[in-house]
Amino acid sequence: MNAPVGIFDSGFGGLTVARAIVDQLPGEDIIYLGDTARAPYGPRSIAEVRTFALECLDALVDQGVKTLVIACNSASAAVLADARERYTIPVAEVVLPAAKRAVRVSRTRKIAVLSTQATATSRAYDDAVSATDTDLTTIVCPRFVEFVEAGITGGDELLSVAQKYLQPIKDSPIDTVILGCTHYPLLAGAISYVLGDEVTLVSSADECATATYALLADAGLLREGAPGVRRFLTTGNPEKFTSIASRLLGDFVNVAEACEELVMDKSKGSND
Ligand code: DGL
Repeated sequence: MNAPVGIFDSGFGGLTVARAIVDQLPGEDIIYLGDTARAPYGPRSIAEVRTFALECLDALVDQGVKTLVIACNSASAAVLADARERYTIPVAEVVLPAAKRAVRVSRTRKIAVLSTQATATSRAYDDAVSATDTDLTTIVCPRFVEFVEAGITGGDELLSVAQKYLQPIKDSPIDTVILGCTHYPLLAGAISYVLGDEVTLVSSADECATATYALLADAGLLREGAPGVRRFLTTGNPEKFTSIASRLLGDFVNVAEACEELVMDKSKGSND
């Protein structure tokens, strides 16, 4: 019960999930692992994402976590079934909770997911809604990740890219949009501004945090009381991680450490 919650993402974006988990579960210790040396995962093949994700999840299990949260949409899409078989501890992820919420709130039964190429290729969101009478449109928005990582959440260039990506939604009866990538909740203001009030945004970060709460409660693993301790590990450069994280999320990340278990070949990383 006192062990930490392990949260994994390809890089920084999963900090939106970590922050939602801390909001909903302030008594939990968390260990966050960002695979920044090998991010972004979005343009990679599903097989590659799967290999990297399982290495990172193994590293978190070695840290003695009581549950795993796959905060990355691309990784959730690539490993969910494997992860639930591979680990004896509960595993939460981002795809199913967000898909369920979107299906529940949509009145027109037409929803969209904004995602990376890897998530789109996996068709994980299509599978998640396939048993419902809801139509899903997928829009791949790679430039959104670039904007967020550059600390840009507003301005003419971002709004014009958003107009382009989101026009098919504006031209359709879609009334609910899943922010199906860790970075997109940080652009919720811009996305909502372009789409207007009629469209409901579903954040995979918030839904994942709610699902994590339920998973811990069901397993009798909830920890309450004093505020939990937060640790942040990266496969890349810890100083760079801390600096980008604080640009995105203020003082949520005080300091990051190197993940000793996963020493990377630096030539493979672009975001380190
Ligand atoms: N974390 C990834 C996701 O949610 C976005 C960033 C990346 O491509 O690595 O899909």
